[in-house]
Amino acid sequence: MPTAKSEKKVVTLAYGCQMSERDADTLTEISGQKGYIPSQDLEHADLIIINTCCVRESAENKILGKIGELKRLKAINPQLKIAISGCMVQQPGALERLRKRAPHVDIWAGTHNIHEFQRLLDESDERKVAEVWEKPKETLESVPLAEKGKLKAFVNISYGCDNFCTYCIVPHVRGRERSRQPQDIIEEINALVKTGCREVTLLGQNVNSYGHDLQPPYDFADLLKNVDSIPGLWRVRFMTSHPKDLSDKLIEVIAAGQHLCEHIHLPCQAGSNDILLRMNRKYTREYYLSRIAEIKKQIPQASITTDIIVGFPGETEEDFEQTLTLIRQVTYSQAFTFMYSKRSGTAAAQMEEQVPLDIKKRRLQQLINLQNAQSLAWRQKMIGHTYEVLVEGPSKANPDRLTGRTRGNELVVFPGESRLIGTLVQVIIQDASSWTLYGELTE
Ligand code: 5AD
Ligand code: SF4
Repeated sequence: MPTAKSEKKVVTLAYGCQMSERDADTLTEISGQKGYIPSQDLEHADLIIINTCCVRESAENKILGKIGELKRLKAINPQLKIAISGCMVQQPGALERLRKRAPHVDIWAGTHNIHEFQRLLDESDERKVAEVWEKPKETLESVPLAEKGKLKAFVNISYGCDNFCTYCIVPHVRGRERSRQPQDIIEEINALVKTGCREVTLLGQNVNSYGHDLQPPYDFADLLKNVDSIPGLWRVRFMTSHPKDLSDKLIEVIAAGQHLCEHIHLPCQAGSNDILLRMNRKYTREYYLSRIAEIKKQIPQASITTDIIVGFPGETEEDFEQTLTLIRQVTYSQAFTFMYSKRSGTAAAQMEEQVPLDIKKRRLQQLINLQNAQSLAWRQKMIGHTYEVLVEGPSKANPDRLTGRTRGNELVVFPGESRLIGTLVQVIIQDASSWTLYGELTE
């Protein structure tokens, strides 16, 4: 939408996971309270916010490049404010290094104090500001609602992580796992539904252990049941599930839920017991496969997705083979595949036997080739069947067609009128690629 000349514009860029996207929404919302209108136009922005990710070095390099590019815009418009927040800033010792590298940035904020962003914005009228709290201090409820009027929204149910997988920086930057109060989560979702939201994704680093710190006892299964019965909400998703905490009882609740989508993101990370142990994942390949078997038994149509890392320190060719066989055995509808990236401060960064880059690259390619074939096979099996699709808007690749997702989270492209956007329709699948289903409305 064009904005008047006097209006201040904010462009927010989020890198990394859904948590980062949700935090970016929060920052956009707080900026809105200071009169900034959301925009995509970097060249004419008055405020640019980058919510960063530090989970892999490749993400960090990309973000550093972007921050560097902003120097040019600041030279053209010295009034422009640049704010950098998120996990990269929160890494121990990172702030000083980043400030030296990017003196053109006006505001630095850590993950634990983004709800104070309005004050930081005010203070930045006078001077450069940098504030990174080592630990969360406030109650979590002071974070405002996600952007209003969206069809789909992310809702945090817990923050932080206690698992300390040895490769992962998240527990070091997001702190210990804290569950939000159920009534606050339910209230937030009720408010979202009133503004037109029809699908929520409940977010936590390990949603399955939600509630471990709540009194009276209340767990993720209880939360799912309560969210499932919120009037006006059509779909409930959740991520990420940690295999070690995915109980039979929880799978039963998902299977019985009316609006709980049949999609489980269950990262395996690796297929070899040696590597799983070194990763501190706290489960074996056999246990992981028992979880998959239980899901398939109780929810035969479930779409299962995963995260996999190749080239973890000490990963041999045999270990890697075990990952390939695991993938063949499970048949994931989609896998997010990563080359191990050494993160300073994590246990794996100290491990010997780091795998050379060329081997990591080759394994990643092999993994991608296999998963692409599996994803295609998964989607080809859907051909000829009809699925419920929540229509999200025009397809990016095919603007004359609509796009939406099945309950299993598969992307579907089909011809239809724009009045269908925001509704549930039935689509019969006629063709498939590794990433996309193509079909037609049945009514
Ligand atoms: N290197 C590569 N991948 C990583 N992930 C987390 N840390 C690393 C790392 N150091 C991956 C995991 C996780 C996903 C969000 O990112 O697979 O599930
Ligand atoms: Fe990182 Fe493991 Fe926690 Fe996931 S469960 S955020 S991979 S430490």
